[in-house]
Amino acid sequence: MKLYHRFSTFFLISFISIQSFAQKNASEYFIDSLMNKMSLDEKIGQLNLAAVPDGAITGTEFSKDINQKIADGQMGGVFGTWNIMEIKAMQDIAVNKSRLHIPLLFGLDVIHGHKTIFPVPLGMSCSWDTALLRQVARISADEASSEGINWVFSPMVDISRDPRWGRVVEGAGEDPFLGSQIAKAIVEGYQQNFGANNTVMACVKHFALYGAVVGGREYNSVDMSPQQMYQYYLPPYKAAVDAGVGSIMTSFNDLNGLPSSGNKWLLSNLLRKQWKFKGFTVSDYSAVGELANHGLGDEKTISALALNAGTNMEMVGEHYLHTLKDLINEGKVSVQAVDNACRVILEAKYKLGLFQNPYLFINTERAAKEILTKAHKDFAQQVAEHSFVLLKNNPQVLPLQSKGTIAVIGPLADSKANMLGAWNAAGDTSNAITVLDGIKNFVGGKGTIIYRKGANITDDSLLKRRVNIFKNEISTDERTPEQMLEDATEAASKANVIVAVVGEAADMTGESASRTHIDIPESQRNLLKALKKTGKPLIAVLFNGRPLTLKWENDSCDAILDVWFGGTETGNAIADVLFGRYNPSGKITMSFPKDEGQIPLYYNRKNTGRYYDEKRDGLSSKFKSDYLDESNDPLFPFGYGLSYTTFLYGNIQLSNARPSGNEALKATIKITNTGKYAGEETVQLYITDPVARVTRSVEDLQGFKKVFLQSGESKDVTFTIIPENLKYYDYDLKYDWDAGDFIIRIGTNSRDTQSAKVKWSK
Ligand code: BGC
Repeated sequence: MKLYHRFSTFFLISFISIQSFAQKNASEYFIDSLMNKMSLDEKIGQLNLAAVPDGAITGTEFSKDINQKIADGQMGGVFGTWNIMEIKAMQDIAVNKSRLHIPLLFGLDVIHGHKTIFPVPLGMSCSWDTALLRQVARISADEASSEGINWVFSPMVDISRDPRWGRVVEGAGEDPFLGSQIAKAIVEGYQQNFGANNTVMACVKHFALYGAVVGGREYNSVDMSPQQMYQYYLPPYKAAVDAGVGSIMTSFNDLNGLPSSGNKWLLSNLLRKQWKFKGFTVSDYSAVGELANHGLGDEKTISALALNAGTNMEMVGEHYLHTLKDLINEGKVSVQAVDNACRVILEAKYKLGLFQNPYLFINTERAAKEILTKAHKDFAQQVAEHSFVLLKNNPQVLPLQSKGTIAVIGPLADSKANMLGAWNAAGDTSNAITVLDGIKNFVGGKGTIIYRKGANITDDSLLKRRVNIFKNEISTDERTPEQMLEDATEAASKANVIVAVVGEAADMTGESASRTHIDIPESQRNLLKALKKTGKPLIAVLFNGRPLTLKWENDSCDAILDVWFGGTETGNAIADVLFGRYNPSGKITMSFPKDEGQIPLYYNRKNTGRYYDEKRDGLSSKFKSDYLDESNDPLFPFGYGLSYTTFLYGNIQLSNARPSGNEALKATIKITNTGKYAGEETVQLYITDPVARVTRSVEDLQGFKKVFLQSGESKDVTFTIIPENLKYYDYDLKYDWDAGDFIIRIGTNSRDTQSAKVKWSK
């Protein structure tokens, strides 16, 4: 207490000075005077970020002697723990024992909720609901900050066109327009009001282009044209920067020959000079050290490379700590470079309010009140319902009625371990509602529920071992696969309907979870085949963190409801949708391929010189851009998702078919709910630029609106289109639009649209 008082006195003196130097920005003055007192070692210390060894494990190296280093002023922040007492103890050391009492940042991977877990981010993106996502970030910030966290490693905004890459689960899919809106919403949600005890600093990641790793193989290289980068992969990071994100994490991949953490073009030219980013950058886990593995030199060389490139803080590895002083003496790194890095980290602490009160986020009473509240759980259920995508419902077997006998079958039906999905650092699987529990809660005494496991998630022992490294997600039944199948089909044959709960285990996606075969594991496909033979209506409830190849399932099941990993309230949300209390409205944000051989597969593809059109060219054409053995089309296109009702799209009405200059064009379309149920539709706007100075995509998403319609109701939906929506990067990276024809497309997904032509003059 006495020492903490000393800290306050220290701050008070500075505060008085702030008053007298009002013309200078208060934070600048405070940090100037603090940095004047700091030794070079203390400045270098601020650039060091440690991982708590007993916290969430996210890499292969660990930090040592953390407390001693905090006391010695050799630590800028710590991450990986959400134990408030542990956090308090470390902050005590920083504030009371270190010479200048500089408080620590406490980071954590709050990826889709803190303790109340929301659906995995890819799932949430399928809601196309930015207000919902902003609120998810807000609640996550409330919960995490109440346990001492002031910095969250989120949002992950890596665009990806490759579902083999396991980390697609953490992002918002393949489209830069939607990805940018989501990035902005999440950053705003976390960073609502700096200085308040429930506002945390966001960290957008992974900068940059990590989602384009070759072959979808984890940590692999990225090689990309500048046009592709600027047009498709960079916009979400830029949107986060424009929304004021406080920090940015580098990515593991090398990018056109230089890994991000040592890439000056990326971290200094693009990020600071072009985008005017003012926050601080942090390397990904041991990524500075890994520059040596990339083949860029010894410890000193890579440290200098990273710092000089613009990596301000090093996450795990301590190469900065070991080498920067020597590097300064050798003239390979300037004092100014260390000062710059130290300053942006101190600014972040100042912004968070940590200098005013290092214990702002450490309040055990708040933690007890704000975690896993009923309101948070109710909201999590609502978000889960909005994230589910109905992929098939033909014949219309859904929604179900809560009567008769329902067979709930499958290895994921009663598996708490798999409901939350990958990357739920502080989540507790014991709080999760399983599908079986959710269905039982819903049906109550009105029907009979039979449950059978039916199969193991996989019988592939290698896959099982690798997935189960941290948690036992894939349990193995004592019975043989044949015995399990027999037991399941026997039970199913007594039911009126079968709900088969199948898919991936939670950690079959996420970091270090790339797959070459993105199908439902064989053991479960066999289960579905056996269930199909019973002749009962077969509904697949599908758990997955990536698009899967579902040709067989689509041909064989009557309905498929993709539920991703829905978080804490998964089971209740699924029951609400299966029984029609909520009419599904999610739309996929990554294309689902028919076959892995089509990957990468994405809607905003190029025409090519020999464009293949299945309808026009048939299946026996020659010399077209196609495959001999598979069509080019996805099984489910980007933006696709069904409802229990049907929506009819009218024709597009344009305010002016010949707009000019900066005029705003209005495109209106009438949507009618022609089915029996009330429901919500996400109306999507795409634009095609048929002639340009470089080759363009066949279409690009440029807007979306959600509309709720009662059965029989119609509403007009209007999009305002401005020249900004027509702009693209040309060969010289000039960002502009050309006068000429454009096709405006509005529809229910990227494939099924109405269109209208406009001629836009300059
Ligand atoms: C991941 C990051 C994560 C970090 C800290 C890394 O392995 O790539 O996304 O934020 O670990 O846990």
